[in-house]
Amino acid sequence: MGMENALGLGLVRQPKTVLFGPGQRRQLGRYAKGFGTRALVVTDARMATTPEFEALAKDLRDSGLAVTVFDRAEPDLPRRNVMDVASMAGAVDVIIGVGGGSCMDLAKASSAVLAHGGDVRDYFGEFAVPGPCIPVITIPTTGGTGAEVTSLAIVFDEETGMKMAVADAHIEPAIAIIDPELTLTCPKGLTAATAADALSHLVEAYTARPKNPTPEQIATQIYVGKNRITDMFCENGLKLMNRSLERVVATPSDLEARADVMFAAYCAGMAINTTGTAAAHAIQSPMAAIGHTPHGFGVGALLPYVMRLNLPYATAEFAGIAQALDVAAPGSSQEEQARAAIIRIEALLEATGTPLELTALGIDESHFDRIAGSAIKASRLVLNNPAPLTEEAVRKVLARGVAGDRSFWE
Ligand SMILES: [Fe+2]
Repeated sequence: MGMENALGLGLVRQPKTVLFGPGQRRQLGRYAKGFGTRALVVTDARMATTPEFEALAKDLRDSGLAVTVFDRAEPDLPRRNVMDVASMAGAVDVIIGVGGGSCMDLAKASSAVLAHGGDVRDYFGEFAVPGPCIPVITIPTTGGTGAEVTSLAIVFDEETGMKMAVADAHIEPAIAIIDPELTLTCPKGLTAATAADALSHLVEAYTARPKNPTPEQIATQIYVGKNRITDMFCENGLKLMNRSLERVVATPSDLEARADVMFAAYCAGMAINTTGTAAAHAIQSPMAAIGHTPHGFGVGALLPYVMRLNLPYATAEFAGIAQALDVAAPGSSQEEQARAAIIRIEALLEATGTPLELTALGIDESHFDRIAGSAIKASRLVLNNPAPLTEEAVRKVLARGVAGDRSFWE
């Protein structure tokens, strides 16, 4: 499979309305009442006690909506949260997810269960939701996951110990209200980890394979490959990260930097909603159980080695990243530009505090077989990766990562 978009395809799945900007959260009531009179708001215990959250709820009530709040969303969204929402919510016209990725994923997963009944397990997989769901409004507060615009809800099934996904255009949020002021109180470590995650999404989506999908594949598969619309989002997101990621980590109160990184995370969400992610995400998932590293730092730690694995298969794409990051020296070769891009991405990851050696994540050689065996089973992500992702390739990435060997591969 080559790296050419032979169809000249552009494809994007997205919310009907995206509202971005400082203070735009104050439009929630105006938009929510367009769906009816009964709002369910899902969030976590910390967010629920903030004045910002109280103001959102008041705005909904002032706009004539009855408001029910579920404030027990947990990190890594456990299935029981979805089932608890389903049993307490009653009839609702709109679900509003306020918070980080798991709060927004909870809103999306609940919208399927509340509309169609049953168990969230019935909707695990791709396009398993039978029809339209309760409309969802997402309001992110961390600026990293991109979950505000994706048609994906990751749910941890406690009984099987597996992370599963509801991946379906029917759970695409109707409206995303992205207000960078809400990230001003996001703790420094979480800001850094989610920024590393978003940066990784931009790199993985931009260097993913164009899959040249058939109409049948477009209708039945969630990840249909890199294309000219996702490239546009990636290029813009990379430019904004380049300008403001270091600044947002150094000065979390800098609203302009917050806005840039949050817009970049939105761009990343738009890209991965169609392309998906690739090797770094496939390998991080089984690694997460070992060091309990935050997702963004785990993916970011792998990225330097994954980029080196992929470099020969996606040289032109990495050179494109160099253009976006303004490190492509005029007159230099594509290979030189590609290497410059990788070095700049690493500097950005380093600025976030991402450990760039896998030993810092508790990984050693004894874990390689288990991680490699599990990583290559994530077939949706494996197929996205430009370099063939065999067990051997994964072990190579891990070995370089544990050694902290960031020389370029021969
Ligand atoms: Fe991610």
